[in-house]
This record gives sequence, structure tokens and C-alpha cells, in this order.
Amino acid sequence: MRRGILSLLAIGTLAVSGTAACTANVSGTGAKPRIGVILPDSKSSARWETADRKYLAAAFKAAGVDYEIQNAQNDKSAFTTLAEQMITQGVDVLMIVNLDSGTGKAVLDKARNAGVATIDYDRLTLGGSARYYVSFDNAKVGTLQGQGLVKCLTDTQAARPVIAELNGSQTDNNSTLFKEGYDGVLGPKFASGEYQKGPDQWIEEWDNTRAGTAFEQMMTAQPNIGGVIAANDGLANAAINVLKKQGLNGHIPVTGQDATAQGLQNILAGDQCMTVYKDVRREAAAAAKLAIALARGETGVTTTTVHDRVGNRDVDAILLDPKAITRDNVRDVIDDGYVAASEVCTADFTARCAAAGIK
Ligand code: BGC
Repeated sequence: MRRGILSLLAIGTLAVSGTAACTANVSGTGAKPRIGVILPDSKSSARWETADRKYLAAAFKAAGVDYEIQNAQNDKSAFTTLAEQMITQGVDVLMIVNLDSGTGKAVLDKARNAGVATIDYDRLTLGGSARYYVSFDNAKVGTLQGQGLVKCLTDTQAARPVIAELNGSQTDNNSTLFKEGYDGVLGPKFASGEYQKGPDQWIEEWDNTRAGTAFEQMMTAQPNIGGVIAANDGLANAAINVLKKQGLNGHIPVTGQDATAQGLQNILAGDQCMTVYKDVRREAAAAAKLAIALARGETGVTTTTVHDRVGNRDVDAILLDPKAITRDNVRDVIDDGYVAASEVCTADFTARCAAAGIK
């Protein structure tokens, strides 16, 4: 507990719930392997606290290693402080979800210089020095979003729809990959004139309030928007709230990502066209397995490499497969145990859940 309390004191007001370092160990004294994890925030997506923290902790506990999982709450200097504390406290492995590549790189380099093994979790740090990268096939996530939107627009027989894009944070390499994916699907449709290219904006820090404001402005500038690529469920919900005010929800398809309870409800309500289910249990399990191997001085097993175009290097990686979710298969996410039926099938949704075969 010693280290948990120390870090609590040191970082003051930061959210540190779930800090689970219960045995005081100092590496180099024959102590248990120790792993430090820094998550990015708890607002840009529910997943970080509801899924990643839970499944990483479960894997570390099952392996009997010491671990500490912190959340930087979208604060870059807190992110750096947390990493420095973990390095000073003698972690064997540092796993990060960066807030941007610059801060991520600084921390990874410090860890490397201190002999700490490093893993980029979910987001690749461009120009960074992480030994491994564990994520989903993020370009495929974007492709599924593009294809999902096309399917919804085909179903509603939309004629030459204007497509708006609410991209994620430009400082998140995943946002670039998602965009590459959906633009790859939509680009030819713009070129052929089947669809019309509409407003296209990066949403700083994946911030849902900024997304709402941006979408409001898009609708004012171009009231005939007929389809929306929203890079995750939070951005989708921000757009849906704007559409609701104009009575247009359900008429203009909106994509999403993360299969959050809110995203699944929006799909059941007919307000969201689709989401992308990334089974974070598998991502967390793969990353934890690598971290545990590294902490024990073993080499990790990976399945592929990804190219870091800034650092011009190939990074050993594990990339998992994402899955598209529409109203027809919302129940798969629930049957899988990723989101509880009780979170989705709240009072207003009982009938919709029953119709979708969700118990
Ligand atoms: C993750 C998404 C998440 C987004 C905002 C991305 O890097 O891959 O799952 O919705 O960040 O937190």
C-alpha cells in the first residue's frame, strides 16, 4: 500500500480510484514484478474506466504481479508526473495511452533510459520508443464506420447526401487511422457524385461539448447534411442531441465506436446507425500478457508490426479485430458480457430491448 498512498499524496486531486498496489516492493530486491499503467481520461469514452481498467486489473491480479493503474484525467502535466513517479518507484514495465505523441514520447524515452520496458496501449506514440504496441486494427475500425454509414444511407434511399465528419482528436494517431478508413470508403462516392463532401472537422481532445458546438455550426452552415461520420459514441451522442432539437434524429444516420451503453441505446432508439465493438477484454488481456512477460524478463510474443511514420520504424505489435454493431446484433455485445443488459435496458428501453431479443 505504501506506494499507493505516496502517489495519492503526490498527485493531490487526481482521480486515482482503483490504485491497487498493495504490496510494497522495490525492484532489484527480488521483489515481485511491478507494472504501471496510465490511462488517458474518463470523459472522451466510458471505456477507459469501465472496461480497460477493469480487465487490465483482472489480468494482473490473476498473474500475481504488483500493478498500479492511474488515470491522467486529460492533464498532460499530470500524465508526465504519474509516469515519473512510476519510474522512480521502480516499475519494471510502463504501459501508456498517450494524450499526444509529444508527451508520450518524453515519458517513453525517460522510461527507456531508466531501463523500464514500455508498451503503447491502444494509441501509437508517433516518434516514440515503446517496445511494443497493442491495439485494434484502427484503419479497419474506420472502414467499418464508412461501410456502416453507406448501408444506412442505402436503406433510407438517401439521394446525394451531404456527409459531415466529426473526427477524433488530431493528436491521437488512432483518429488519423479511423479517418483513413472511412475516407477510403466515402472518397470514391464523393468522386462519383453519389455523395457530397460536407464539413469535416477534428474535435480537440475528443471533447463531446466541443463536438456539439461544432455540429451545431455545421448544421447552420449546411442545413442539408444527410449523414454523419462520428468517430466514437460520445461524438455521435453530441450530434444526435443537436439533431433531436431539430426533430431530425433517426432521419440522418450517425456512426459511432466503442459499443458504450449510451451508443447501444442510441442504436436501439434508431438515432444511431451503428457502432464499432472493440472487445477491450481481449486488448487488455493481450497487453497484460506482454507486460507480465516483460516484467519477468521474458520476451513477448507479437503477431505483426506497425509502421511509425514519424520515427520511421516498425513496432512489434498485436492488432485485434473490431466488429460492426447495428440494431440487428446489439445483443451480441450484451451476450458477450461486455455491456450489461441492465445498463442498456433501462425503463425507457424495455420494449426496444425485448424487440431486439435482449434479455
Ligand atoms: C480509442 C477509442 C476512444 C477514443 C477516445 C481512441 O484512441 O481507440 O476507443 O473512443 O480514443 O477516448
